[in-house]
Amino acid sequence: MIQETKSTNSGTNAAPKVIGKPLNRVDGKLKVTGGARYSAEIPQENLAYAVCFDSTIARGKITDIDTSAVENLPGVLGIITHKNLPDLLPSLFPNRDSTDNSLPLQDSNIYHSGQHIGIVIAETLEQATYAASLVRVSYDEETPLVEIERERQSAYAPERVFFKPAKFVRGNPEEAIASADVCLEETYTTPTEHHNPMEPHAIIAVWEGDKLTVHNSTQDNFGLKQFLVTNFGIPEANVRVVCKFIGGAFGCKYIIYNYVPLTVIAARLVDRTVKLVLTRQQMFNVVGHRATTEQQVKLGATRDGGLTAIIHEGISHTSILEDFVEPFTNGTHMMYNCPNLLTSQQLVRLNKGTPTYMRAPGEATGSFAIESALDELSYLLKIDPIELRLRNYADIDPDSNLPWSSKSLRECYQIGAEKFGWLQRNPKPCSMKDGRYLVGMGMASSTFPAFSMPATAKAYILKDGSAIIQSGSHEMGQGLATVMTQLAAENLSIPVEKVRFELGDTNLPRAPLSGGSMTTSSVGTAVYEVAQALKAKVVELARNDLDSPLYQFPLTDIVVENGRLFLKNQPQIGETYTSLLTRHNLEKIETEYNTYSQPEAPKFAKYAFGAQFVEVRVDPDFGEVRVNRYTGVFACGRILNQKTARSQFIGGITMGIGMALMEETVSDPNLGRIINPNLGEYHVPVNADIPDIDIHMIQENDPHVNPIGTKGIGEIGITGVAAAIANAVYNATGKRIRNLPITPDKVM
Ligand code: MOS
Repeated sequence: MIQETKSTNSGTNAAPKVIGKPLNRVDGKLKVTGGARYSAEIPQENLAYAVCFDSTIARGKITDIDTSAVENLPGVLGIITHKNLPDLLPSLFPNRDSTDNSLPLQDSNIYHSGQHIGIVIAETLEQATYAASLVRVSYDEETPLVEIERERQSAYAPERVFFKPAKFVRGNPEEAIASADVCLEETYTTPTEHHNPMEPHAIIAVWEGDKLTVHNSTQDNFGLKQFLVTNFGIPEANVRVVCKFIGGAFGCKYIIYNYVPLTVIAARLVDRTVKLVLTRQQMFNVVGHRATTEQQVKLGATRDGGLTAIIHEGISHTSILEDFVEPFTNGTHMMYNCPNLLTSQQLVRLNKGTPTYMRAPGEATGSFAIESALDELSYLLKIDPIELRLRNYADIDPDSNLPWSSKSLRECYQIGAEKFGWLQRNPKPCSMKDGRYLVGMGMASSTFPAFSMPATAKAYILKDGSAIIQSGSHEMGQGLATVMTQLAAENLSIPVEKVRFELGDTNLPRAPLSGGSMTTSSVGTAVYEVAQALKAKVVELARNDLDSPLYQFPLTDIVVENGRLFLKNQPQIGETYTSLLTRHNLEKIETEYNTYSQPEAPKFAKYAFGAQFVEVRVDPDFGEVRVNRYTGVFACGRILNQKTARSQFIGGITMGIGMALMEETVSDPNLGRIINPNLGEYHVPVNADIPDIDIHMIQENDPHVNPIGTKGIGEIGITGVAAAIANAVYNATGKRIRNLPITPDKVM
C-alpha cells in the first residue's frame, strides 16, 4: 500500500505544507534560459587558457620532452612539464611543504595512456591547443598491463572492501554449499564504464595577490579547499572554492584530479586568471571510471528456495599507484537472510587511470551478479523470482543483526508486480511473442545504504519577511536547491517563494562532499535544525518583548504560519516576522546550526530498498534488445519533492539501461589505449532507447533514519536494473547473458 507520510518533526508549524509537493526546480528557469553559469562560464577579466598534453604510451618513462617549438609561438605564456615543475614550485609556493611529492609532474614515469605530462598556457584556447600539439615527446616504452585476464596471477587482497575486510565469513559457507539440495555456480562480469556527465571537468583559477579563488566543477567544495591549503601551503582564509552548478557528476567529480593543481600552478606562473576545460577524450583517461569486475557467485539452497549459503568472490582492477576497490560485495552482506556467507575481493593492478566511485559503486555491479544468480536459481527450483526473494526476506539486517530503521521491500515487490502486470509473465523462455519479436519479463531487487554526514547551515529571516538559508553544498542536478528551499520554508513557516537557498561556495557554512546519495539527508538535517532554531529564536524574541502581543504567553500556545506568530486559540492575537523585526530595528535575524555529534553505536540498519520490473523485446535474428516497458518501485523514506525524486529514479534507471545494453569502455589489449573515448563509440542511451518509465514511491515514515526521515535516492535507481534486463532477456530467449553489456553479438 502506498502510505501518505505525515509531515513528521515539523514542530509548531501547520502551514504551508510544501514538503513532498512536486515543486518545480527553483533553478529551472535559470538552467533552461542559460542563466545558470557553470564553472567554465564564470565571466573573467584578463583570462588565459590552458591545455594539458598527455602521454601516448601506457607504461614507461619519458626520455625527453622537446618544447622548443612552443616557447616562442605567438600567444604562448608558459609551459610546464616534469622538467621544470620541481624547480618552479619553491618559488611559486614558498610556504609549501617541499618534501610533499603529491603534486603531478614530479618525475618522468608513465602509468597510463592519456596521463597528463604537461600543461601549456596561452592567450587563446586555439593557441594553447595548437601549442600542445607541437610538443615532441620521446619515451622508453614498456609493455603495459591492460587486462585482468592476463594479469590474474598478480591479484592481491586490498586492505578493505568499503567497511569490510577483503575476505569476510559468516557461518560455514563451504560446508553449507556442499550439503545444499541445490547449488548454483556462475561467473558474471561487468566492463569498465565511464560516467560521462554532460558538463566536462572545468576549472578557472583566479589569483588576487596571495588569495586564490577556484571555480571548479566538483562534488566536494570543502575537500578541494583543504587540498589547496595542504598542497600549496596557502592559509585557509586565502582560499575560496566556488561551484554553483554542476552539469552532472555521478561520482567522477570528487577526487581531485591532476588538471586541478596544474591549472592553479599555471595561473600562479603566468600571473593571470587561467581556465582549463578537459576534452571528452581526456575525460576518458584522467577522471576515473567504473572498474571492470569478474564475480563468482555460488548459491546453496533448499528445495523450497531457502538460501543456505552465498559465496560472492571476484576481482576488479585498480591503477599502478593506488588501490581503488569497486565494492561489489557490499550489498551481498545484507540483502537476503542467509546464515552462511563468504565474500572476498581482490585487485589487479593495470596501466589505467585509477577507477573511482560511479553511481552506486558496488551495488550497481554486485547486484548484476547476485540478482542474476537468483533468477537462475528460480529456474532451477521452479519458483517464481519474487516468491524466491520473499522466502529469503531479511526481517532484520543479517549483517549487523540490527533492526532496519524502516524497510518496505515487500510493498515494493507487491506494488511493482501489480503495476507491471507480473502475473502475465510466462516463465518459460521463448514463450511470449509480439509478431516476430521475442518478449521477456524480468525483475530484480534494489538497495542502497541511507548514509549521512555532519553538515552546517545558516538561516536568516529578513525584515521583509523573506528568508535565506545557506550551506556550501552542491547542486549537481539532483534538485538540492529545490528540496532545501521546501524544507526551510516549511520549518520557518514562510511561503516557499520567499525563501532562497544558497549553496556552492566555501565562504558559506561547511557541507560534506556530495556522494553516496547523502546530500539531502546530511544538508537537509542541518537546514531543518537551523530553521527550527531560528523560528524558536524569533518566538523567544516576541515572548520577551513587552511591546509584542505575545509577551509572556506560554511557548506551547504560540504557532507560526505564513510568516506570522499568533496564539493557537486566538489567532487574531499575534504579529508578523516583519513587524517584530521592524520594531526591534533589525534588518535580519540569524542563527547557525552544526549537526555534528559524538558518534554512538548504531541502533538501526539504514537502507533504501526497491524493486525493478522490465519487459524487453528481442529481435530473434539480429539479437537487438529493446526495453519495452519499465516499472520501478522504491521505498526511500520521506520524499521531499515528488517531481525531483521521480527524475532521480528515472535517471538512475536510464543509466542502468545503459549499463545493461550499451556501455563499455574498450582498451587496445596491446597499447593500453582507450579506443572508444567519445560519445560516438561509447554508447549511452538516448531518448529513443528509453520507454516511459513508471515510477512508484512508497512513502516511509522513518523516525530512526535521521531527523528528517529521508533516505538518499540518487543511486538506488541504477541498482538491479542490469540484472532485471538480463533476466528478461533470458525469459525472452533462453539465453543467459552473464557478461555486460548485453549486445546483439551475445544474444544472437
Ligand atoms: Mo556518487 S558515485 O556517490 O557521486
